[in-house]
Amino acid sequence: MSWIDVGHIDDIPLRGARLVKTPAGCVALFRTSEAEVFAASDTCPHKGGPLSEGIVHGRSVTCPLHNWVFSLETGAAQGADEGQIPTYEVKLEEGRILLDTAALSARAAA
Ligand code: FES
Repeated sequence: MSWIDVGHIDDIPLRGARLVKTPAGCVALFRTSEAEVFAASDTCPHKGGPLSEGIVHGRSVTCPLHNWVFSLETGAAQGADEGQIPTYEVKLEEGRILLDTAALSARAAA
């Protein structure tokens, strides 16, 4: 794994999101009310809505365009909707958010 530092957890509001640029493209970081951080694609598979502008609730995000809900853990669409967003390995070390760029590059190339 190859981890890069993409910011501090306090850069993201609680139940909010932020877009970061990485060498392998833009990634959306989501912070839950439990102060966990998840990383996933910013692009909704439905019609390309910006998921980083969606609403974070529990460990899910709701797309701002048509309200599809995706699990931030698995990337799978919830409920009656179908689809999947790529999710990426992320870890927290002393408040710093580290993203696994090896996995990111592999998915970007796939
Ligand atoms: S673009 Fe996300 S739900 Fe339609």
